[in-house]
Formats: sequence, structure tokens, C-alpha cells
Amino acid sequence: MRVGPIEIGPGALLAPMEAVTDLPFRTICEEHGAALTFTEFLSAEALTRGAERVVRRMWPSLGGRRFVVQVVGRQPELLARAAAMAAEAGATVVDINMGCPARKVTAGTCGAALMREPALAAAIVGAVRAALPSSIPVTIKQRVGWSDSSINASEFALRMVESGAAMVTVHGRTREQGFSGQVRLGPIAAVRAALPSSIPVVGNGDVKTVDDYRRMKNETGCDAVMVGRAARGNPWLFRAIHAIETAAALPASPTIAEQRAVWRRHADLVAEYASAEMRLHELRKTLAWYSRGLYGGADLRRRAFREPQPQSVIELGEGFFDAVEARERARADIGEVLFPDGIAARCLARHRRRQGEAGEKTCAG
Ligand SMILES: Cc1cc2nc3c(=O)[nH]c(=O)nc-3n(C[C@H](O)[C@H](O)[C@H](O)COP(=O)(O)O)c2cc1C
Repeated sequence: MRVGPIEIGPGALLAPMEAVTDLPFRTICEEHGAALTFTEFLSAEALTRGAERVVRRMWPSLGGRRFVVQVVGRQPELLARAAAMAAEAGATVVDINMGCPARKVTAGTCGAALMREPALAAAIVGAVRAALPSSIPVTIKQRVGWSDSSINASEFALRMVESGAAMVTVHGRTREQGFSGQVRLGPIAAVRAALPSSIPVVGNGDVKTVDDYRRMKNETGCDAVMVGRAARGNPWLFRAIHAIETAAALPASPTIAEQRAVWRRHADLVAEYASAEMRLHELRKTLAWYSRGLYGGADLRRRAFREPQPQSVIELGEGFFDAVEARERARADIGEVLFPDGIAARCLARHRRRQGEAGEKTCAG
């Protein structure tokens, strides 16, 4: 897929998520096959004011990997200056948030509120385009409309493309829906049909399994899929989607040992990169994500939120995974006694493969 001059490899895109898509999270998703990751939305007003807390969230991906900085605002000149700052920070792409439903954002009449002001939205895209070198594409992320009575995804997207947007992501809900109700694939398909084929359209909303991924692709004709919430504690969904897009065999669901190793890598990245005041909170959150669906996970989460120190959260996690692994081993041993000659192991492997195919385990998040 080509976004302006940038060739994006196979795989799903990681959605921008406030307080989630920080450097550690993005890194983990990239290492599992996410084709491109986004920062959370960053206020153009705060960036241009030099608010340190916001400026430092324009974190470049590790290893020189590509990344997108998403900006939000309603004043074209501020967004243009914020985009230039993102370019300076190394952003490969600058994305403009036109989909956030949060009241604190729409009350400022930006985010999804821009879908009610297409002329202003177009002016923003034009100003940001003009502020960036041609090597850096401008993209937008929108919803299907403000409300049921004002679905305008296709006209809106077309206008943004005419103003300079090189890719359009559509979250298949209205602003009024927030995150509830059904994702609508029809309006995403309509956007794909309305835009020139040179402009990629990214389908987004409720992709939690490989089946959801296939449905999004098949029913909308979108060029790529963006995954948000389901990636929390489940980067293996990216691995599965990458495999489908490269016609490789669908990987088996992660073993407990893999889940443990990736949790630990994630926790180590948090320990290294999170600010001192956020570290404890982020470590608890990370452990909560990876323990979901595992035996004893609910109890662990309660305990994690009482741990007072970053190191003690990591130790709690290590102890948790020791216990989960011991339980798995004991179950495998019983299986071997009841079904000797490796039958139990083969059954388990087949079961894991099936789960992977159905996307169940690969979407535990
Ligand atoms: C916690 C959270 C934070 C989000 N923050 C952003 C954001 O900063 N910018 C944005 O465009 N969308 C944001 N979104 C919306 C997601 O990018 C995505 O469109 C939405 O979650 C639907 O995709 P999903 O069903 O795969 O999660 C956020 C969603 C969640 C749940």
C-alpha cells in the first residue's frame, strides 16, 4: 500500500489510542507485525505552546521504524505549526484527528466535530499539507458522520483528499455512537468507492479476530485494517494478520511462555521509557492486559493495583506466570499419563492451531 510517496508493508495498522499507544506499546506491536503505528492524539495548541508533557509524546519508533504523529485541533495555523514540529521529531506521516468523540475534544469543536464543518476541516488539511515537505504525507482519521441523521463519510473524505489528504481511515461509527453499537461497514465501503484508487482507505472498528479482519476487508474493499483495543495485551493479532497478508501459514496461538516473554519485554520497555510518575501505573496496566484470560488473572489484577513499587509489580507478574506455567505443565503431565505416546501434546497443538485459525486466542485482548 502506498501513502503518498511512502510504501507501507503488509500488516494491520495500530490505531492511535490516548494513554495507550506510547513507545513501549507501539514497539511491541511493531515487533509483532504492525505495519505502521500512531501516537495518541496530541493537541496542536499544547504542542505549539511547548507543553513538555505533550511534546515528549511525539516519540519516534525504535530502530528508525516509521511512525505517525496524530494531531488534534481546529485552528489551521496551529495545526500547521504542530505538524512541522512532528516532522522535526521524525514523523513519517502526520495524521489529523477528525474522529475523536470525547466531549473534552468535541466541546473544543475539534476531533469528530470537524465532520460538521467540512470547510474548516479542508482548510486544516490544506494548511498542514503546505507546512510539510512533500516527503511527508498528511492523512486523516474520521468517523462515518456525526449522527445517524448526518452520515457524510464519503463526501467528507473526498473533500479532505481534494485538500491534500493521502490516506483516509474510517472508524465505522458515528460520533453519537461513541464506542457502542455496531460498527457499520457500509459507509466504509462507500468511502472506498468514492475515493480515487491511489488513495488508500483504512477500515477500523471492532477488529478483534482474524475473522473480523477478513470481514472488514471483504465487505468494505478497504486497503488496510486498523486495530485498536484488541491489540492491548494481544500483539499476536498483528502477527496473524501479517501472515494472512503474506500468504504464510497462520501462526499458532502464543504459548504461555511466549505470553510471559512478551509481557516481560513490554514491562521492561515501560520501566525504561515511562516517566517516573507514570511507571507504576503503566506497569500495573501492562500486567493487567497480558493476564486477561489466564487462570488467576482477575485476582492478580486486584493485587497488582495494590503493589506500591514498579519492581514489586514485575515480581508479582513473574510469580503469576510461574504459577500459570506450573499449572500448564501439570495439566500436560496428566494428559501424558491418560493419553501416552504424545497424543496429548498433539491434541494440544491441534487445539492451539484451531484457536489461531478462528482467531480466538490471537484476540484474547
Ligand atoms: C482508550 C482509547 C483511546 C483512543 N484515543 C484515540 C486517539 O488518540 N486518536 C484517535 O484518532 N482515536 C482514538 N481512539 C479511537 C481508536 O483509534 C479506534 O478508532 C477505536 O478504538 C475503534 O477501533 P477498535 O475497535 O479497533 O478499538 C481511542 C480509542 C480508545 C479505546
